Amino acid sequence: MFLVTGATGGLGRRIVRVLREREMTVRTFVRLTSRYAELEHRGAEVFIGDLQRERDIRKACEGVQYVISAHGSNESSGGDAETIDYQANVELIEQAKAAGVQHFVFISVLGVDRGYEDAPVFKAKRAVEKYLQASGLNYTILRPSGFASNLLPLAERFRQSGIYVLIGDPWNRTSIVSTDDLARIAVDSVFVEEARNQIFAVGGPEILKREDIPRIFSHIFDREPFLINPPVLAIDGLRNAIGLFNPKLRSSLGTLRTLLANEFFCTSEEAARLESVFNLKLEPLEMFLRRYVSV
Ligand SMILES: NC(=O)c1ccc[n+]([C@@H]2O[C@H](COP(=O)([O-])OP(=O)(O)OC[C@H]3O[C@@H](n4cnc5c(N)ncnc54)[C@H](OP(=O)(O)O)[C@@H]3O)[C@@H](O)[C@H]2O)c1
Repeated sequence: MFLVTGATGGLGRRIVRVLREREMTVRTFVRLTSRYAELEHRGAEVFIGDLQRERDIRKACEGVQYVISAHGSNESSGGDAETIDYQANVELIEQAKAAGVQHFVFISVLGVDRGYEDAPVFKAKRAVEKYLQASGLNYTILRPSGFASNLLPLAERFRQSGIYVLIGDPWNRTSIVSTDDLARIAVDSVFVEEARNQIFAVGGPEILKREDIPRIFSHIFDREPFLINPPVLAIDGLRNAIGLFNPKLRSSLGTLRTLLANEFFCTSEEAARLESVFNLKLEPLEMFLRRYVSV
């Protein structure tokens, strides 16, 4: 039995889809307030709980062989990296150990090892990676770049208006990963021998410049892009203003600023390693988008 956290998220629901297509048993850890009907329809077991509660994590781990940790601090969890990205994962690792789990897959983030001090999610994930490596559990750590599925709402907006907002340097490089490829890699991590106790950077097959994204939208929808390109400094202004009355949000905007101000891409060697270990052909961004958007 697999336990998947973050099963209602962009990645988690795809992981559950892969598992159920392979007719594997899966328990999904979801909040009562989440939209989890799709998971039930797919035949997944739904465990209602909150990752902020140790008791819930302990119960969810009972009888589980494999854990895929795919949750993350989002707006609905108050963007609290310390509690959700760090503490909940430490608890999950401890309870997985106690339950005799055979393999723990952790979704980290590309660039986590660069020491970004102002990015709470990066700091939390690096600390979890170290905790997991020292835990004695079999593990696979996946460090993905930005998810292609995150671009779907932007593609929809582009389809309607032609507008694309690109904050920061349009020449910064990125290698957007197909969220479906990542889901498959997460599942296969527990079965593929060469993935045991390994860390993988996970990106798409091509190194794009950020300005290539509206170009790809333009191909797909056959319309000229109207690019709005504020500098990263705009985020700084916003952060300072917000910080006056919401220090927590100010801190989580540090992660966003880090993502916007830096390059996150996989080298061709890293992409080749993924394709070889997981025996798949990574999907280019345009192909992913064309599968999901209506033209
Ligand atoms: N998105 C990216 O581009 C990207 C890039 C690199 C790495 N990652 C990492 O990949 C993972 C998945 O990302 P994603 O974009 O799929 O995430 P997402 O769509 O934001 O989903 C987050 C998930 O975590 C769950 N969650 C949050 N707080 C919880 C709590 N207290 N108890 C139970 N569940 C809780 C959410 O449940 P609700 O439905 O109840 O909110 C949701 O299912 C995360 O670890 C993220 O940091 C993402």
